[in-house]
Amino acid sequence: MWKDLEISVCKCESDKLRDKPDQDNLGFGVHFTDHMFLMKWDRENGWHDAEICPYKNFNMDPAAMVFHYGQAIFEGLKAYKDEDEQIYLFRPEDNLERMNSSALRMCMPRIPVDKVLKGLKALVYLDRDWIPSGEGATLYIRPTMIAVEPALGVRPAGEYYFFIIMSPVGAYYPEGFSPTKIWVTDKYVRAVKGGVGHVKTAGNYAASIMAAEEAHKAGYTQVLWLDACERKYIEEVGTSNIFFKIGDELITPPLGGSILGGITRDSVIQLAKSWGVDVVERRITIDEVIAANEDGRLQEAFGTGTAAVISPVGELCYQEKKYVVGDGSTGELSQRLFDELQAIQKGTQDDPFRWIVRIG
Ligand code: COI
Repeated sequence: MWKDLEISVCKCESDKLRDKPDQDNLGFGVHFTDHMFLMKWDRENGWHDAEICPYKNFNMDPAAMVFHYGQAIFEGLKAYKDEDEQIYLFRPEDNLERMNSSALRMCMPRIPVDKVLKGLKALVYLDRDWIPSGEGATLYIRPTMIAVEPALGVRPAGEYYFFIIMSPVGAYYPEGFSPTKIWVTDKYVRAVKGGVGHVKTAGNYAASIMAAEEAHKAGYTQVLWLDACERKYIEEVGTSNIFFKIGDELITPPLGGSILGGITRDSVIQLAKSWGVDVVERRITIDEVIAANEDGRLQEAFGTGTAAVISPVGELCYQEKKYVVGDGSTGELSQRLFDELQAIQKGTQDDPFRWIVRIG
C-alpha cells in the first residue's frame, strides 16, 4: 500500500498567507507556518490521502480515541538556513525511525519513512521563507500521530492521522543558552522500565507538568528526574537528556528503557568521542553528582535535546539544598559542543558524520 502513496500539494492562496512574526521575539512554538503535511491511516487502506495543504484545523469526533486513551506520539526536529539560503535538516531519518519505534510500543501504525521524508522536504521547501535566520532561531518541525477512530473501548485504534506542522522558534528556555537552574525531584517520577519512558508519547509530557510547575514556582527552569524504584539514579531532564563532566569523564545515564534516546544525545556522544573525550554511559546517582560537586570534580553539567540544543546547568537544587555547578557559568565543553553542533546544523562546518540533509 505504501508504494502507491502519492502526495498531493495544495498551496495556500496568496491573500491567505500569514504575517511572519518578529524574528527577534519568536518564543517557542507559538507561531505556525502556512502549510502542513497530513496523511490518514485505516485498517483497510493503510496510509492514504497524503497531502501538503494550507495549515488547518481538524474536525474530530469527541469520541476520537486520542482524547480518551492518549494514543499520541510525536517528534521534534529542526530546519536551518545558511547565509546563501541553503536549507538543511539535521538527521531527519533518525527522527522518523524513532517515531516508528514509538509507534510500535504504542500499538500504532508505522510510517513509510522514505515517503514522509520526501513530503517533509517538500513542505520545508514550500515554507522556506519561514526559516528564521537570526542567532539561535530555527524552524522547529513537529511530526505527530494521533488515534482518531471514534470509540471508547481500550484497544489500538483503527484510524490515525499523521501530520507535520512547523513553527519558527527562538531558544526553548527563557535563559537562551545561559545556564539553567534545575530542580531535582525525589517526590515525582517520570517513567519505569517496562513502561513508555523511552518513547516519545504525549502522556510522558503530561505526567511531567506538575513537577515542572513546582520547579517553576521555586524559581527553577526544569526538573531532573531520578529513577522510579530507588529514586537515586539520574534519568533525564524534563525536555532533554543530561550529561555531567566529572574529572576527565563525560558521563550520561544509559538508555535502560525509561530514558528517551535523544538524537542530540547521540550526536553529542559521537562528537565528544571524536575529540578524544572519554564519554561514559553508565548509571550515576544524584549523591555521586553532589559529592563530585563538593570536592570540585564536577566541572560541567548540560542538557541535550532538539528544542534545548545544549543547555548548560548552572545550579542544581536537591532536597532543598542548592549546588552551584562549576562556577555557575557555561563550561568550556558545553560551549564547544554547542558551537560545533550549531555550525554543523547550519552548514558552516564540515559534517564528518553525514548528519545534515540538504533541501533544494
Ligand atoms: C524536542 O526537544 O524536540 C522535544 O520534543 C522537547 C519538547 C517537549 C519541546
